[in-house]
Amino acid sequence: MPTLRRLPETLVNQIAAGEVVERPASALKELVENALDAGARRIDIVLREGGRSLIQVSDDGCGMEADGLSLAVERHATSKLPDDDLTHISTLGFRGEALPSIGAVSRLSITSRARGGDTAWRIRVEGGRLSPPEPAALTAGTRVEVRDLFFATPARLKFLKAPRTEQGHAVEIIQRLAMAHPEVAFSLGDGSRTLLDLAAAPDLATGDDPYRARLARLGAILGREFEDNALPVNAERAGYRLTGHAGLPTLHKRTSAQQFLFVNGRPVRDKLLLGAVRGAYMDFISADRHPMVALFLELPAEEVDVNVHPAKTEVRFRDAGLVRGLIVGALKHALAEAGHRASTTVGTATLGAFRPQEGPYQGNYPRPHSGASASWATYHPSHPSQGLAEAQAAWQAPDRGGSGGGFAFDSAPAARVETGAPMPVEHDPNHPLGAAKAQVHANYIIAQTGDGLVIVDQHAAHERLVYERMKEALAAGGVARQALLLPEVVELEEAAVDRLVSRAPELEALGLVLEGFGPGAVVVREVPALLGQTDAAGLVRDLAEDLAEADAALSLEDRLADVCGTMACHGSVRSGRRLNADEMNALLRQMEATPHSGQCNHGRPTYVELKLSDIERLFGRR
Ligand SMILES: Nc1ncnc2c1ncn2[C@@H]1O[C@H](COP(=O)(O)OP(=O)(O)OP(=O)(O)O)[C@@H](O)[C@H]1O
Ligand SMILES: [Mg+2]
Repeated sequence: MPTLRRLPETLVNQIAAGEVVERPASALKELVENALDAGARRIDIVLREGGRSLIQVSDDGCGMEADGLSLAVERHATSKLPDDDLTHISTLGFRGEALPSIGAVSRLSITSRARGGDTAWRIRVEGGRLSPPEPAALTAGTRVEVRDLFFATPARLKFLKAPRTEQGHAVEIIQRLAMAHPEVAFSLGDGSRTLLDLAAAPDLATGDDPYRARLARLGAILGREFEDNALPVNAERAGYRLTGHAGLPTLHKRTSAQQFLFVNGRPVRDKLLLGAVRGAYMDFISADRHPMVALFLELPAEEVDVNVHPAKTEVRFRDAGLVRGLIVGALKHALAEAGHRASTTVGTATLGAFRPQEGPYQGNYPRPHSGASASWATYHPSHPSQGLAEAQAAWQAPDRGGSGGGFAFDSAPAARVETGAPMPVEHDPNHPLGAAKAQVHANYIIAQTGDGLVIVDQHAAHERLVYERMKEALAAGGVARQALLLPEVVELEEAAVDRLVSRAPELEALGLVLEGFGPGAVVVREVPALLGQTDAAGLVRDLAEDLAEADAALSLEDRLADVCGTMACHGSVRSGRRLNADEMNALLRQMEATPHSGQCNHGRPTYVELKLSDIERLFGRR
């Protein structure tokens, strides 16, 4: 019979280390969190071989006495739960587990001098074996050195990646912690090179403008681009407070790795929070693109359980609904305030496109999202320079679009100069989109503003306008419908028919009336009046696809928004149509009056602006 026995302390610690210390970056995270808990204002880090041979963290925090040092490396010894109360955790650490775990799998040495103490002490732990404290030299604070991580657990050692990769993880961890603590200076080097050097910003609490301090830190980490294109977020509900910065929807990334979320100063990667961000941006960004955000949620300690994940990167909220509502509401509000501001990255990319090209045109546009929703991709192939006009032209029914057929196929530039009535709006601050001067390639409106010019993508702009009007009408109790003279029968797969028919009431609220017509077809009787004459069959097919794709977890409201988007895309048949000056100006004025008109609902800009100064630079006048 196998013998049942208590495991030796060292083995227990090694097992705990398996959870807490996954790789050098996780050991580093624990050490830096300890320094922050100790009130450090400056934290200097050295990593060798990505942290495998050395992790050194020096801080100027409160330090420890000799007996504190011995206790610190003992399991379950902590100074951070003075009232034994796990529901009121205000520090990053609380388990008294990190140092003994690290000590069990490495050669650990801690040198520390307690504030006001007259000497420093050093303690060493090697593979779990402890030697007594000895006097050492250190002027203040604490220096922790972890050498040969995992030397005592060769299995773990094998799983380490290349030093560069491990170093990358470490840098990322420090960046996250540094975002939450702009009042602390951080440096990180590999012994010869400095990888991060962040000066302390004035204290958030006492500084005159906490947003500026934090934004400066975010800019230092995420780059100028974020700093220039971020909206401040500030909202409070029932003692929960959300602050931080949210990137404009036109500044988007391929993954959500650039979404930084913090709960009571603790970096987390929490599904609930990430989902809320996704929900808030849903209207503005295509599903395969991700906005950049840095959001800080503060809430009473007893409302959140931080003790649910060994590396403390997930949390559990008492009131998840409140958290989600707060985030979605705050972000939507910030985005609404931003009105039709498009990101500067768009302008810069456009400027790049204007520069003299060498050889054939390379496509210097901001690339459209490659995997955007099927409906978008169909009409907007990924080569806007040559494809958009044709695609839109192909999409136009021949009898649609007013003045004379065939215009969208013009191969010669079809610019027209307005010589008619004077248009004073270009200097009117209420009309930032200026006065329309010309339409080119049957889809782009050129307008003159007070200090530059604006190019509007009339299809994208119109799509946004239809979308916003649709949402508005929906909120006001339903979208006006228009009966088709001849009901249209659309043949579909059976599953698609089922999906559409089961959603018929929702679709009706959106102005689309359809019913089943045998197993493999639906009949469309009415369409949203806003869409004008539309290709009902195309619309219904796209909707069926949308509904199939729609994440089952999406709320009804979010799904409706999706459907609105598809409908708006179909309603935007104005592209490829020549507009006269009055029509162009009317579109500009509508855009100014419409929230979120700076980007279409796929996150693409509806217009770009070139400042006169940029134009002058293009011509070498500056
Ligand atoms: N850099 C430091 N400066 C001052 N005291 C420190 C420092 N690092 C650790 N300590 C002391 O050592 C104790 C043990 O640290 P350890 O990281 O093992 O546990 P913890 O931070 O309390 O909890 P957790 O395991 O959740 O991190 C801390 O509670 C703290 O009192
Ligand atoms: Mg700790």
